[in-house]
Amino acid sequence: MITEKVRHAMNEQITHELESFYVYLSMAAYFHAQNLDGMAHWMRCQAHEEMIHAMKFYDHILDRGGRVTLADIKQIKTTWEKPLEPWQDAYEHEKFITGKIIDLAKICRAENDYTSEPLLAWFLNEQIEEEKNTDKVCRDLATVENSKEGILMLDRELAARVFTAGSPLDPAAYNLVA
Ligand code: FEO
Repeated sequence: MITEKVRHAMNEQITHELESFYVYLSMAAYFHAQNLDGMAHWMRCQAHEEMIHAMKFYDHILDRGGRVTLADIKQIKTTWEKPLEPWQDAYEHEKFITGKIIDLAKICRAENDYTSEPLLAWFLNEQIEEEKNTDKVCRDLATVENSKEGILMLDRELAARVFTAGSPLDPAAYNLVA
């Protein structure tokens, strides 16, 4: 059985992950409007991944006999001045999410909730990747920022992202994601 404090904190984390889904989907829409479909594709894959993150917490709460309660998602940014800015925002957002996962790990430890540790270890590792990936694109884009050709080359590179999981609402899909 999950304690009330852990259940509450995990419900909040579901909202953060769904906000992440919404943030990346908004960035995808911006990149489509800029005719940078490779970056849009990357963002759409990322949005999909964020929904999976939300569902991991969702099912963890259910599996431990808790009640899932969803909260409002705040209005997010819908436009940016230049292609680098969404990537910078994405990097900052991932650092924020890392902080939230660490807060969650602290709450679980204070509650002697060892059962949540494998899930949180997965998320802590995942956040290393999330920060690394968005920071890398920021640095690459900063290098070519004044070159249309450079931006298009990077756009093509990001179009190659492969994401094989099926529907994020289907546990058979998201349990396959490492
Ligand atoms: Fe679910 Fe991008 O952190």
